Amino acid sequence: MTVLADAADAAGFLGAGSTGSGIIARYGDWLPVAKDARVITLGEGNTPLVPADTLSDRLGCRVWLKVEGANPTGSFKDRGMTVAVTVAAHEGATAVVCASTGNTSASAAAYAARGGLLPIVLLPAGRIAAGKLAQAVVHGARVVQVEGNFDTCLELARKLADDYPVSLVNSVNRIRLEGQKTAAFEVVDTLGDAPDVHVMPVGNGGNLPAYWRGYVQYADAGKTTRRPRMWGFQAAGAAPLVLGHPVLNPETKATAIRVGNPASTALALAAREESGGLFEAVPDEQILAAQQFLAAKEGVFVEPASAVGVAGLLAKAERKELDHDLRIVITVTGHGLKDIDTALSGHDVGGGPVVPAELTAIADVCGLS
Ligand code: F0G
Repeated sequence: MTVLADAADAAGFLGAGSTGSGIIARYGDWLPVAKDARVITLGEGNTPLVPADTLSDRLGCRVWLKVEGANPTGSFKDRGMTVAVTVAAHEGATAVVCASTGNTSASAAAYAARGGLLPIVLLPAGRIAAGKLAQAVVHGARVVQVEGNFDTCLELARKLADDYPVSLVNSVNRIRLEGQKTAAFEVVDTLGDAPDVHVMPVGNGGNLPAYWRGYVQYADAGKTTRRPRMWGFQAAGAAPLVLGHPVLNPETKATAIRVGNPASTALALAAREESGGLFEAVPDEQILAAQQFLAAKEGVFVEPASAVGVAGLLAKAERKELDHDLRIVITVTGHGLKDIDTALSGHDVGGGPVVPAELTAIADVCGLS
């Protein structure tokens, strides 16, 4: 291969069968991407699977964190978006639309920008973390803030895609979930088998069945000896899958999963059923405490929604509902820097004492002298 072709391959531009970076290059055979498609990638996937030692001790289990904040736009959405935007562009789309609580829009904006498509994003007005809004803006999205919640935005995005020449890249576009299932492949490729339990936060309900699909496909192909139980956790103020009915006015500080009527409810319930899993709810205080715990004890800074799985497990352990010695993988879905306002709200943001520029003063306040 020539040097130029190598470079193109590394950038993922040689089609689904090539060996460049990104999930289409790595897992193209498992994805519905035409071999001759121009692959729109930012090198997503291949995220760290970090052993969580302190959490393992607390839970009496062996726990790993699948750190999806390490994706190019800082969340797991990039796995689905590379596939959705690649397919949309291959089919001739020139614009994509999504509704979002923030991460889908950040990802859609980046991948559409890279592919030369116009991104249109519908956001619940005033309810998006600033970092995520900034991402949509800088990537050149047409940002529309709608007076309504995420569920209303999604309804409108679907109608816009029905009536106008724009391609819908929410996870109701099942192609997105095909991309997201590759995280389950990576877990197995790293651990050598599926875990006993896979834990994650649930909002619109797409990611949990996406992982389940990945685990089932790998099990069917003989790459695992078992299939995990899928445990999904929601914020108590936005827990339609736990309650068994939509929530009209969902409320939680974990804005990424502030969803009252999940579009993928049926798929999520089926994945729970087939895997022998569960859905449970966690109050905001426990979510924020889990976010702090992960940052301070494991060195992993996630956004509030991403800490819901950890919060749920800690609560189950507290109630003595957790068997010992389980192998558990927890997906932490998005990077903490996306929502620093919430992260800092529990701290004295003054940022600590101001001292004269003298060594002894610094040593004093650090308790070193
Ligand atoms: N964690 C984060 C950080 C998210 O942004 C989302 C969803 C989820 C978990 C839940 O995943 O919807 O597949 O059950 N965010 C969507 C968005 C709703 O618009 O960015 P899900």
